[in-house]
Amino acid sequence: MKILVTGGLGYIGANTVIALAEAGYEAIILDNLSNSRMAVLGDIEGILDREVPFYKGDLLDEKFLEGVFNKEHPDGVVHFAGLKAVGESVALPLKYFENNVAGTLNLLKVMKAFEVYRVVFSSSATVYDPQNPPPFTEDMPLGPTNPYGDSKWMVEGILRRLSETHDPWAIGILRYFNPLGAHESGLLGEDPRGIPNNLMPYITRVAKGELKFLRIFGSDYDTMDGTGVRDYIHVADLARGHLMALTALSRGRGLGIYNLGTGRGHSVLEVVRTFERVNAVKIPYEYHSRRPGDVAVSFADTSKAAKALGFKASISLETMCRDAWRYEKTKK
Ligand code: NAD
Ligand code: UD1
Repeated sequence: MKILVTGGLGYIGANTVIALAEAGYEAIILDNLSNSRMAVLGDIEGILDREVPFYKGDLLDEKFLEGVFNKEHPDGVVHFAGLKAVGESVALPLKYFENNVAGTLNLLKVMKAFEVYRVVFSSSATVYDPQNPPPFTEDMPLGPTNPYGDSKWMVEGILRRLSETHDPWAIGILRYFNPLGAHESGLLGEDPRGIPNNLMPYITRVAKGELKFLRIFGSDYDTMDGTGVRDYIHVADLARGHLMALTALSRGRGLGIYNLGTGRGHSVLEVVRTFERVNAVKIPYEYHSRRPGDVAVSFADTSKAAKALGFKASISLETMCRDAWRYEKTKK
């Protein structure tokens, strides 16, 4: 089966291309390189020891999309392409709505024109209303608190309505919790530009000496050690979740929404201590005030993905920390 992977040179997309190819799918990558590098294609091809078709272009360019579909006639799409920086989305909401919502609309229009009705979409735990008590279940009220989250919520709504039409759409919405780690080769990790916002890229840069210390946002949460708790999931587990979603879609039409997490929360301090222990490096840190918009605790109820997809994350926080550091040390 031929799968078009939008955003396939990005962090999660690239890892999923590997998982797809290793499971026997023919993966085709589309990316505009707005947040990725061409070198990633070489890394993917090196790991797989084969060429992978790549189309450089933008979801906002409908003609380009038609050209790709005309040439490749994919059987389905795994749709990662999108902008994901929460802070930037607050400053530039129109850029986020255009790229993430209008871009997805173009993709869906072209899919319909070519009668490609199978799609897996990258959503996020950020769509949940932060007032929900964790663990988050898929049927809990939604209530994103920033334009990035809104863009995911809007696309979810579009996909839900599409699934109610007469067309035979088979749609999987995957709500990722906090992806960490990299491919076991030491390649295909997360490499944000500038000073990282997310926890692990910040830690690895402190470990490398590029940043002096980690600022831990909040030490007075109602958690085991006062620091925020999140559901960290290895990117390879996440990638495998997409294979399982594709298999479920092949069983027929409809819409399925699934959390992808481990179902277990770890505090910031636990992540720091685990990173220090498994990598034998010191991470200096200082406590700072809470980051606006953060919740104390977020983790997934994973029972729906387990039951419907047979998905269970199995890679430990130790491995996530080891792989993230291996990637940071060796990255070009
Ligand atoms: P990423 O930025 O590494 O990958 C996204 C890729 O999409 C990039 O290579 C970028 O160049 C490409 N892209 C963006 N807009 C495009 C467009 N208009 N046309 C073509 N290509 C475009 O991000 P990621 O971490 O791999 O995330 C993948 C998806 O998962 C995103 O939709 C993101 O919102 C979602 N997600 C990510 C996280 C996370 O923590 N990384 C959590 C929840 C959801
Ligand atoms: C953030 C985004 C979320 C997005 C997710 C992607 C916000 C409010 N939310 O989630 O929309 O889907 O990334 O993975 O930005 N922390 C520190 N110091 C740091 C960085 C983070 O203490 O320098 C803490 C945070 O307060 C939090 C935890 O580490 O408790 C994880 O933070 P982060 O990696 O940014 O992820 P989220 O906030 O969960």
